[in-house]
Amino acid sequence: MVRFESVGLAYRHTGRHGAGRDGTPSTQILHDLNFEIAAGGFRWLTGASGAGKTSLLKLMYLAEHPSRGRISLFQTDISRVDRRTSSLLRRRIGVVYQDFRLLPHLSAYDNVALPLRLARKTEIRVRADVTELLRWVGLSGRLDSRPDELSGGEQQRVAIARAVVARPALLLADEPTGNLDDDQAQRLMLLITALNRLNTTVVVATHNTALIARHPAPVLELSAGRLIRHG
Ligand SMILES: Nc1ncnc2c1ncn2[C@@H]1O[C@H](COP(=O)(O)OP(=O)(O)OP(=O)(O)O)[C@@H](O)[C@H]1O
Ligand SMILES: [Mg+2]
Repeated sequence: MVRFESVGLAYRHTGRHGAGRDGTPSTQILHDLNFEIAAGGFRWLTGASGAGKTSLLKLMYLAEHPSRGRISLFQTDISRVDRRTSSLLRRRIGVVYQDFRLLPHLSAYDNVALPLRLARKTEIRVRADVTELLRWVGLSGRLDSRPDELSGGEQQRVAIARAVVARPALLLADEPTGNLDDDQAQRLMLLITALNRLNTTVVVATHNTALIARHPAPVLELSAGRLIRHG
């Protein structure tokens, strides 16, 4: 499902202090990553702040390209796919962004409906799935609220609902419990483990060691951009 072979990532310096032309210095963030996750697998992704967790997830959801090595997703070498194929692959991936990235002008309901509408589901189906999921995450009363009318934890729960609503083959969650209380975090884990049992491959980046202890699974651990544990 996911395979990294000798993968490195360097961010190019851009902007005022090193205009991004060729030859611009770049900083190597991820080094020589090698691991594989089988379809239906579950991995925790841990490491100190700045270790590279979000950067690794960005490679997996095709927001960044590796500066070396090879990444395969869904048995496809992603360096060889065109834009169209890449956006089709992307639709099979659900992402909970660390900073949520909800669309500010849309209601909670419409944010969660988006992936289903992109997949051209009927509005009857959209209504059923979106209201059920928002009820599950405890937001039945906030369907019409815009993100700026919601608390951080409420926004995070909308982001989680949006990531899972279309039953992605691969779910990538970046600190999905960062703004949740213990009960909500437990509920989220129930949702994620249910999806995982239905064969969704899952990667969850977290600092929450209590959560990891309650849900034992193999760990990918990054330290300064290198994998120091995988399995
Ligand atoms: N777009 C970027 N351009 C340049 N450097 C970046 C960029 N994004 C991240 N970095 C750097 O890459 C390193 C890894 O960042 P990343 O966000 O992947 O860490 P993280 O493990 O997710 O941290 P946290 O736990 O705080 O979310 C950091 O040193 C960060 O400053
Ligand atoms: Mg991060």
